[in-house]
Amino acid sequence: MTRHFLDLSDAGGDGVAAMLADALERKAARQGWPKGRADADAPLAGHTLAMIFEKNSTRTRVSFDMAIRQLGGTSIVMDAGSMQLGRGESIADTARVLSGYVDAIMIRTDDHAKVVDMSKYASVPVINGLTDASHPCQIMADLLTIIESGRALPGLKVAWLGDGNNVLASIMEAGGLMHFDVVAACPQGFQPSDEDVARGRGRARVVGSAREAVEGADVIVTDTWISMGQDHAETKLAAMMPFQVDEALMAAAKPGAAFLHCLPAHRGEEVVDAVIDGPQSLIWAEAENRLHAQKSVLRWVFGQIG
Ligand code: CP
Repeated sequence: MTRHFLDLSDAGGDGVAAMLADALERKAARQGWPKGRADADAPLAGHTLAMIFEKNSTRTRVSFDMAIRQLGGTSIVMDAGSMQLGRGESIADTARVLSGYVDAIMIRTDDHAKVVDMSKYASVPVINGLTDASHPCQIMADLLTIIESGRALPGLKVAWLGDGNNVLASIMEAGGLMHFDVVAACPQGFQPSDEDVARGRGRARVVGSAREAVEGADVIVTDTWISMGQDHAETKLAAMMPFQVDEALMAAAKPGAAFLHCLPAHRGEEVVDAVIDGPQSLIWAEAENRLHAQKSVLRWVFGQIG
């Protein structure tokens, strides 16, 4: 059966754990190697990944491109607007056609239903590179970063500061699968749906106070409140400001708590410079770990892991 990675639950807790172990091992094995050199075993030699972007990307685009290359394969990167897909060709027809050319498809879109449709009609694995509903590849990198920092996932308290977006939905899902608690502090009107909270399998909850969320937290996570390039909505900014991650909020968490942000960031909005550039911030490792985590996602969809 074709393996798709539309959400973390497609792999389940055991699959996610297996991918994280693989990512740690492969990352360690590459220390000091040039980025363009394939891994010693080149496990995806001969495989091609097509990537379709309906939305801008830096990290997802470059890390997937380098991931497939380091695994010995190749990639084709396309902006949806330059494809017939951007001029009305259906997802179903696109999925069937690309399945004849490439071994896997990654798509980033604002419409989760399109990724689901792609997986229905493609005969090769489909990977969610971010939708309006979830961002599972980002969370794989976040989990890897947390483990690398010396923390075991079970029993952790992760605090989310911000609105109920796609990244939070995937963190909540990860909490349910990997047995850690997620406490999200979100203002009225910007809370996650009940469906997203339910992804946490009883380990996710929403509070109205930033202080309450961070108390005793091992990891503090935030995300941009307004997507890059979108007009700043003053009403949203005003509602979000009490949830800004600053030094005082970090001090209210567990001593030495880690700070994560998937990037890109609007510095001075969701987080202040002193935190994002401070000693508790793991954002550069988190960004690099997109590469290592996605290599394991690629190996998982091809049945090489789990
Ligand atoms: N975090 C993330 O997905 O970054 P990009 O939008 O740059 O891919």
